[in-house]
Amino acid sequence: MSERIPPILLVGLGRMGGAMLSGWREQGFAPSVAVDPVAGSAYRGADLAVVSDAAAIPAGFAPAAVVFAVKPQTAAEALPAYRRFAGQAVFLSIMAGRTLGGIRALLGDAQVVRAMPNTPAAVRQGVTVACPGPGVTAAQRALCDRLLQAIGVVAWVDDEGLLDPVTAVSGSGPAYVFLLAELLEEAARAQGIPPDLARLLARQTVSGSGALLAASPEDSAALRRAVTSPAGTTERALGVLMAPDAWPLAINRAIAAATARSRELAG
Ligand SMILES: NC(=O)c1ccc[n+]([C@@H]2O[C@H](COP(=O)([O-])OP(=O)(O)OC[C@H]3O[C@@H](n4cnc5c(N)ncnc54)[C@H](OP(=O)(O)O)[C@@H]3O)[C@@H](O)[C@H]2O)c1
Repeated sequence: MSERIPPILLVGLGRMGGAMLSGWREQGFAPSVAVDPVAGSAYRGADLAVVSDAAAIPAGFAPAAVVFAVKPQTAAEALPAYRRFAGQAVFLSIMAGRTLGGIRALLGDAQVVRAMPNTPAAVRQGVTVACPGPGVTAAQRALCDRLLQAIGVVAWVDDEGLLDPVTAVSGSGPAYVFLLAELLEEAARAQGIPPDLARLLARQTVSGSGALLAASPEDSAALRRAVTSPAGTTERALGVLMAPDAWPLAINRAIAAATARSRELAG
């Protein structure tokens, strides 16, 4: 049964926009209009009109939220067409690096929420950090929260500067976990494990450990200690990985580098 939700306009039906739409549909959110130059037919449905550009939005459609899920480099070209909804709608942007100030410069004196999701959103297991801009009402914030919860867990911050380290940790973070799976697979092969089995072991170890972490009330250090018998194999491996110049240094440097890059890209 469809849940009552105000009309939503979704701009950009790529990976993230498509994931959000799927999440809303699972929760029965309707109706909506989406704008995308090419991706329309895959998503069109009774609950959703898909049009190819802003000029084709049905006359009289009055969204309570306009969600920007286009690439950041498209913003300057795409966003001004939606100025006409400023004042009535909250604008929810998931564009990496596009600041509240930069978005407001394109939309006029608009109420904007900036959010940073991550790709596990595609399986409703994302984490999104959201930051409200000036003038966003409690009701608008609650609406954005509902829209983002459809793709996973949501946290709110008031300090927009935190979105740079957030981007480094959770926005880019899935790539680090996938890299771990790649390296485990390669190392397994190097030890003589056949390729198919190496792939299975690496994938299932990463995804199973994630599921165990999600299901456990214990923190990750406790779960790690639970696998580590004194003088055993895990302890020997962790002695390599946890040496001060190994993972602790590499992870800190990686997060600092990504944070710095996010600051460079901001605009
Ligand atoms: N993927 C991630 O890990 C991640 C994480 C956090 C945040 N984000 C942010 O999410 C946003 C979307 O990323 P994505 O990976 O979903 O990108 P994507 O797959 O390229 O999706 C963007 C979609 O917008 C469409 N589009 C282009 N110009 C448009 C316009 N003027 N009006 C309406 N739609 C337009 C694109 O169509 P065409 O393909 O025809 O150009 C495409 O279907 C980005 O700003 C990104 O920074 C992504």
